[in-house]
This record gives sequence, C-alpha cells and structure tokens, in this order.
Amino acid sequence: MSRTGRIAGAAAVVVVAAAAVGYYAWQPAIAPLDSPPPISEDRALLAQGARLAELGDCMHCHTAQDGKPYAGGLPLNTPFGTIYSTNITPDVDTGIGAWSQEAFARAMRRGVARDGSLLYPAFPYVHFTRVTDDDIAALYAYLMARRPVHAPAPANELTFPLNFRPLVAGWNLLFLDAGELPAPAKAQSKDWLRGRYLVEGLGHCASCHTPMNALGAEKSGQPYAGGLIDGWEAPPLNALTRARRPWTHEQLTSYLHTGLATEHGAAAGPMLPVTQHLANVPLSDVQAMATYLMSMQPEPQASPPPTPPAAPPPAPPGTPAADDAQRMERGAATFNASCASCHGASAPMHTVGGRPLLELSTALNADSPRNAIQLVLSGNPWTGSASAHYMPPFAATLTDEQIADVLAYTRVQYAQRPAWKNIAGSVAAIRKENPQP
Ligand code: HEC
Ligand code: HEC
Ligand code: HEC
Repeated sequence: MSRTGRIAGAAAVVVVAAAAVGYYAWQPAIAPLDSPPPISEDRALLAQGARLAELGDCMHCHTAQDGKPYAGGLPLNTPFGTIYSTNITPDVDTGIGAWSQEAFARAMRRGVARDGSLLYPAFPYVHFTRVTDDDIAALYAYLMARRPVHAPAPANELTFPLNFRPLVAGWNLLFLDAGELPAPAKAQSKDWLRGRYLVEGLGHCASCHTPMNALGAEKSGQPYAGGLIDGWEAPPLNALTRARRPWTHEQLTSYLHTGLATEHGAAAGPMLPVTQHLANVPLSDVQAMATYLMSMQPEPQASPPPTPPAAPPPAPPGTPAADDAQRMERGAATFNASCASCHGASAPMHTVGGRPLLELSTALNADSPRNAIQLVLSGNPWTGSASAHYMPPFAATLTDEQIADVLAYTRVQYAQRPAWKNIAGSVAAIRKENPQP
C-alpha cells in the first residue's frame, strides 16, 4: 500500500473508531478459570475438534517456525505491521488455560479476548463467527486437551495508531457481520450447505482469495476475485471454469485434498499448508467444499480461449525484438540445464505419475508472472512423503536475468501466451520483497 494510502487508511480508522467508542469498544472481561477444565473423555468430540482444527488451519498460524504446536509466536505480515499469533495451548499464564468455553466462543465469534480487549482481524474471526455452537465446543475440548506450553507471545510491531487495540471497534463495526450464515436465497443440497459452511467459516478461504481494501478488510463487492498474500497471488476462485482447461469438481477435490491437480498444477507458497491440513479431513468435507466453489463459477465461455498470436517476423539485430530473441535463446539454454530434467517432455515426472504439464499451469498462464517467479525463487518444499510437489529453489543458483530468461522462454514456448512485460524488473522486485535468508 502507498504511504498516502496508509495515512488515509489510518485517519479513516481513527474517525470511525471515535464514532464507535461507547458502542462497541469496551467489552467486559470474562472471569478466569483457576485451572484448565478437565480433559474431555468424549473421544468422538475430541476427534471432531481435531478435524475442525485442520479445517481452520489453527496449528499453521499458531505455531512458530520450529516452535511447539499451538504455542503461538508466528509473525504475520500485514499492511500495518507485524502481528504475532498467540499461545492457544491450555497454559494458564501464557495460553488460554484460564479461558472458559464462553470466553473462547466470544473470541471466535466477535474477536474479543477473555480480558475484554479486542483482537486484531489477522485472526480470521470474521469467518470463524460462522462456526456453530457444537463445533466451537468440539474445538474448545480439543484445544484444552493439548499439552500446555509456557510461551508468551512476542510484542506486535504495529504502526501508530493501530497499536491501540480499541480502534479495532471501528473496524468491527464496519466489517464484522457476526453470527451464523443466513439461509441461502434458493433451496440447496446438503452437500452445498456443508461446503458453504466450511469455505465461508473455518476454511476462511476468502481471507486470501478476496482483494483487500485500504483498511485491510475483504472488499465486500468482490468475494473470491483474487488476492495477494505474502508476496503470492491467490488466484480468483470465481473464474475456475475460465482456466485454459476448465476446472472440474473432481480436480478441485483432488487439489484441495492432495495439493495436486493434473491439469492445473501443485499447491505452492501459502496454499501448500492449507492443502496439507485439508489432507486430514474427511473426503466428503472436501468434496462439499468443491461443490460450493463450483456453484460460484460463471458459465464456461462459449468460444475457445484465444489462439496464441503468430510468431513475429524476425527483427534486425540491435532492436528490442532482437533482444527478446536473445532472451529466448538464453532461456532455452537455462531451461535445458536447470529445468528439463523434471519439466522436459520425456522427464519421468510426466511419463510416470501424470503430473501437471507446464503448459496448463495456472502460474504460467496468469496475467502476472508473480507466482511463477516466486516458485522459481523459493521452490516448493519437500514435505514428508509428498515428494510429488518438490521443486528446488533457484534463488541462490540463478541470477535475476537468468530467471527472467527462463520464464520468458517457458511462458512463450510452453504456455504459448504473449510475453510478460518487463519480466526482469519483476524478478528483481519480488526477490527484494521476499524475506532475506
Ligand atoms: C491466519 C492466521 C490464524 C489462523 C488460521 C488462526 N488464528 Fe487464532 N489468532 C491469530 C492471531 C494473529 C491472533 C492474535 C490476535 C491479536 O493478538 O490480536 C490469534 C488469536 C487467537 C485467539 C485469542 C488468544 C489470546 O490469547 O488472545 C484464539 C482463542 C484463537 N486465535 C483461536 C484460533 C483457533 C481455534 C483457530 C482455528 C480454528 C485459529 N485461531 C486460527 C491468527 C490465526
Ligand atoms: C493463506 C492464504 C490462503 C488461504 C487461507 C487459502 N488459499 Fe487457496 N491459494 C493461495 C495461494 C497463494 C494460491 C496460489 C498457489 C500456487 O500458485 O501454487 C492458492 C491457490 C488456490 C487454488 C488454485 C487456483 C488456480 O487457479 O490454480 C485453489 C482452487 C484454492 N487456492 C482454493 C482454496 C480454498 C478452497 C481455500 C479454503 C479452504 C483456500 N484456497 C485457502 C492462498 C490461500
Ligand atoms: C526436481 C524437479 C524440478 C525441477 C528441477 C524444476 N521443477 Fe518446476 N516443478 C516441479 C514440480 C514437481 C512442480 C509441481 C507440479 C507442476 O505444477 O507441474 C513444478 C512446477 C513448476 C511450475 C508450475 C507451477 C504451478 O503449479 O502452477 C513452473 C512454472 C515451474 N515448475 C518452473 C520451473 C522452472 C523454470 C525450472 C528451472 C529453473 C523448474 N521448474 C525446475 C519440479 C521441478
């Protein structure tokens, strides 16, 4: 966000918050428990809570790198500064061990901590507010059965005036639509209803896949139109049937459950942990999410996608087009040296196992080169047995120019789409944005 945008945004927060004080800002504390409640012996309830925690990515956000599960401390980068997730293990001093179920439910529904202070919306309570009483009870039982960890959350690094929590009252007034989802406008299947409940609620998919306004809230008129998160583009989820090969229900289910869709690509960047958690929920839940997502797609376009433009006539040396031709040549050489062992037509990756082809990849077909650049810079980590996703990072071995060359080449040669403009500049800019190792 631009500096003036940020200042205007901050000023707007102040005005709205002033209006909201007295209405929303001061919430009562809920009496602390002396000790965490006894661990539930209801195994079905605990198992349900575990599945719901996977659906809500609770562990991902509430675990620092190399930290203990649920003990908090993961830095989340927002346009307003860094917010650290908190400890949600049942430790009485530094976690939520003194929180009654009522206090937990209020946090999930309204973003209010036990002591009455307001939580920042980096915690996706605008979505968790949709969760039913039964599911909140199961999540609470599950969290209270975790091993308590003593771990205070690091102090947030937020710009003034956003380090002043009561200001969130104004934000809530504008953007928190608390409570369960209303009945749909027309009759829907059970599967669709379940899918909507999971996608809009615990799944909080819109928090990454919807563009943000200047106050860091999802733009209300553009749900699922695509967003930007940690330097990656979260593609639109409401145009999946407009992809080069329209997504099917089956592919969407497979992508969400395994992180791989044969005609689209592999989940990478911030989407990888989402699919790793969805791998642990019942297939029927993931299928229901796919049903709901498919219902928000436009009709497939009647005409086939535009044919690739004809190759331009050869240009005399010394012109920009000739520079492009040289870039293509260098790109082909880099591709053969660094990429072809996996992405070449006869690479085992394609002949065995039917992995996605580069030409169909969302990243290579996207209007912006951002995700393709991120993928080449950072690769996709080797995760447990899921070696199907693994791609090495090239940040240390290829220069910006080499990455620009190889992506210019793959874009035109494989995706057969018009070249991205100023790809070298984009590589340099994105490399700079990324946290330095
Ligand atoms: C996108 C990241 C993210 C996800 C996903 C997430 N949280 Fe959080 N959560 C946070 C952050 C950040 C805070 C701290 C907010 C603050 O300090 O104002 C927080 C705070 C909380 C709190 C208040 C704790 C306290 O000490 O004040 C509870 C309770 C909580 N989360 C539970 C959950 C549960 C349960 C889930 C899964 C269903 C979950 N969170 C998923 C980021 C996340
Ligand atoms: C933390 C942010 C984040 C959350 C939460 C998130 N996504 Fe994503 N998603 C992304 C990013 C980033 C990508 C692009 C990843 C890539 O190119 O590999 C992506 C990619 C996808 C894709 C592939 C789209 C395409 O056109 O190739 C689908 C489908 C998807 N997400 C669905 C979901 C669903 C459903 C949920 C909720 C359960 C969800 N996402 C939650 C960040 C997120
Ligand atoms: C060790 C094998 C390996 C090497 C080497 C490798 N990749 Fe990949 N790459 C993968 C795998 C696995 C995927 C995920 C499956 C897929 O999307 O095809 C992938 C995906 C991609 C994608 C598509 C991302 C998406 O899902 O939309 C692009 C673009 C890409 N690689 C470019 C490159 C480039 C450029 C190079 C060379 C600089 C390279 N890769 C080298 C294994 C590799």
